[in-house]
Amino acid sequence: MAASSPLMSTYLPQPLAFSHGDGAWLYDMDGRRYLDCLAGIAVNTLGYNHPRLTAALREQIGRVIHTSNLFVHPLRDQLAQMLVDRSGMRNVFFCNSGLEANEAAIKLARLHGHRRGIATPEIVVYEHAFHGRSLATLSATGNPKVQKGFEPLVPGFVRVPLNDAEALARVARERPNVCAVFLEAIQGEGGINPARSEYLREARRLCDEHDWLLMIDEVQCGTGRTGRWFAHQWADIRPDVMPLAKGLASGIPVGAVVAGERAADLFGPGSHGTTFGGNLLAMRAGVTTIEVMEDEGLMKRAAAVGERIMSAIRSAFAGHPGVVDVRGQGLMIGIELDRPCDDLVEKALAAGLVLNVTASKVIRLLPPLIFDEEHADHLVETLAPLIAAKVGG
Ligand SMILES: Cc1ncc(COP(=O)(O)O)c(C=O)c1O
Repeated sequence: MAASSPLMSTYLPQPLAFSHGDGAWLYDMDGRRYLDCLAGIAVNTLGYNHPRLTAALREQIGRVIHTSNLFVHPLRDQLAQMLVDRSGMRNVFFCNSGLEANEAAIKLARLHGHRRGIATPEIVVYEHAFHGRSLATLSATGNPKVQKGFEPLVPGFVRVPLNDAEALARVARERPNVCAVFLEAIQGEGGINPARSEYLREARRLCDEHDWLLMIDEVQCGTGRTGRWFAHQWADIRPDVMPLAKGLASGIPVGAVVAGERAADLFGPGSHGTTFGGNLLAMRAGVTTIEVMEDEGLMKRAAAVGERIMSAIRSAFAGHPGVVDVRGQGLMIGIELDRPCDDLVEKALAAGLVLNVTASKVIRLLPPLIFDEEHADHLVETLAPLIAAKVGG
């Protein structure tokens, strides 16, 4: 943004404004089209101007947008029940963003610790994790750049490496104040790093053994993106606490923390709250998003289309040392190069693709879940030459 912009300079946005979108395509002010492989950072589940979502939102706006949590409403119960049914968990608290859902999870963990008689409860968190930018969630985040300048950090976090079962076992032996384990099923901002299924199962076992809450941040990887409702379901486990946001309402701000049996009664009247959380426009968007995903079979498609993209990139660069790894699940894909590649964002835009680079060397693809085979092939045909030009090949 130019120095004269009235916005604070927290982002350095591309000098490109989109006028509208249609399906998986975005159009700039001059009418040029771009294939969207980012979905507003894993938000626009149904792409742009999905007829059912647009109609539902129009209708809801004409009816009522917000009444507050001081009044019940069947839409709020409906979306909560949908999440309960699909997660096998018990109760939901609605908020407005990922960090708010994670903040609620951290509060639940502390309540659980206090209930167990621990005066200074600790939560296990992870290297390279990202949980948001409030003081508590940036303290839980495993990236010094996110924390710098905001010290003192919120205490009560113990950090371990991902997928290291021995490190978690050591915490169990040495830290009696631990009350929860908090991790992303697939780290997003950290570089598309999946928690291995065996690791998630071992974390579940340790949580059961030590009366810790297993809290899985599904803000980025949840809501069908990986081909299951929630990414942890690939490991056949169930968390005690699951924060959600991003794709849940296809672009309308929403957050939710879903709690299982061991955490569902920790909050009581007055112990947590939010003005906008559970607003009826977001609830309608969430209900419609889930209904459309099911009616159009989008999760199954996400799994297949994601596999098609990953295998095409893998075979295009088989044996090439410049492409270190292609990983992910469904439509949450990371292509790790052997060198920094932030410049690929601009080059991709010039080629008509919207994508993202995270952890400096990882091309991150998070397309809308309406992506089909044709979109996938267009993406690979456009992206592969850009990668080849970058790594030589
Ligand atoms: C895993 C995860 N948790 C939390 C957040 C924070 O969400 P929000 O930006 O909505 O506060 C993000 C955002 O990227 C995320 O990827």
